[in-house]
Amino acid sequence: MNILLLGNGGRESALAWKIKQSGKVENLYVAPGNAGTHLIANNVDLSAIDFPAIKQFVLNNKIDMVVVGPEEPLVRGIYDFFANDAEISHIPVIGPSKEGAQLEGSKDFAKQFMMRHNIPTAGYKSFTLNQLDEAYLFLEELEAPYVLKADGLAAGKGVLIINDKEEAKRELKEMLSGMFGDASKTVVIEEFLSGIECSVFVLTDGDSYKILPVAKDYKRIGEGDTGLNTGGMGAVSPVSFADETFMRKVEERIVIPTVEGLKKDNITYKGFIFIGLIKVKGEPMVIEYNVRMGDPETEVVMLRIKSDLVSLLEGVATNTLDDKTLEIDERYATTVMLVSGGYPGDYEKNKEISGLDLAQDSILFHAGTKLLNNKVLTNGGRVIAVSSYGNTKDEALALSFKNAEKISFDKKYYRKDIGFDL
Ligand code: AMP
Ligand code: GLY
Repeated sequence: MNILLLGNGGRESALAWKIKQSGKVENLYVAPGNAGTHLIANNVDLSAIDFPAIKQFVLNNKIDMVVVGPEEPLVRGIYDFFANDAEISHIPVIGPSKEGAQLEGSKDFAKQFMMRHNIPTAGYKSFTLNQLDEAYLFLEELEAPYVLKADGLAAGKGVLIINDKEEAKRELKEMLSGMFGDASKTVVIEEFLSGIECSVFVLTDGDSYKILPVAKDYKRIGEGDTGLNTGGMGAVSPVSFADETFMRKVEERIVIPTVEGLKKDNITYKGFIFIGLIKVKGEPMVIEYNVRMGDPETEVVMLRIKSDLVSLLEGVATNTLDDKTLEIDERYATTVMLVSGGYPGDYEKNKEISGLDLAQDSILFHAGTKLLNNKVLTNGGRVIAVSSYGNTKDEALALSFKNAEKISFDKKYYRKDIGFDL
């Protein structure tokens, strides 16, 4: 079959790598892709949110399935765009409907969904600018630190955690007045939860589900989890504290109610659900939903799926996921992200990357890279994810770090403490 994968990050490189291993795939296209996907698939110069152009491409190239990497096309309704067009409605899109994508596209929607279906999460209230006084009163009821979340998509920057109440009030007013544009016209204020986080991934066809390997990502730029938030500096799977007892609770209290809740609410959802979890005194609670795979978690999760991913995705498309088996590799997988100096603030692009051919026994997933005159150049903050297997976490990490050293570009930076807290 012919598959079109949308996106251009490390996540899409890892998805492409896994999809390519399937004997079912004839042609794999990635739109727009990067210098790494160019090596294993056909890059297509198309934006992942240009739906009419995607439709034309799909028809011209006899695409049999569209796999969506990032959230934006999903939140903009690519699933419905296909479903409602007779020329392409037979082509499955792996991802939720526009309504389902609201689990990530609107924090208020996600909170209401969790409350409705008794899914454990922090207590909250949502406010708009004309409810500022009520919002201040709500802050008075809470204890520091204060968690303020822009309702809509804000490129991962829409969550503020503030210790001082007066500062929280000022920031809240700024947010409601448009700090994140329309995304923060509604703000969710919620209780602060204290605990350790992990990412649980679920694949669902809307009826049944499979729980994919659990991972932990490292979001802060600095070692010891300090400094600014990034898209993710590394990841580890499995996660020691997400043991059998914990995962049983996750399945019973969160995964099943989520899949059942979508069904009860008549929300079409055929794709990945990313549940951002926090373990509070041994109990799982939901921090957030995303409607896609995580990045860089995908760069470890794909290593640990032994089964044919395309067969699983066919199960999603045809409502036969229950008949499929999901086999997991027992080994550890780790990834270490090489980033451009300055990231997540300002950084330079177009630095030549060398040493990619020197890496041994790791899998290099390109993130922000591009090809120019046969040279691989940096093209983003996160540049290359160095992923490795090991019989232990430390064995896998040692390989990732060793190969991270061999790859060079001006102002390369990476965290040398990925997995330190596990
Ligand atoms: P989100 O975009 O919802 O994932 O939030 C970004 C990060 O903020 C999360 O990964 C958590 O580390 C933190 N966070 C979000 N909500 C809470 C909460 N209620 N309590 C504590 N930390 C939170
Ligand atoms: N690694 C977190 C995310 O993909 O949102």
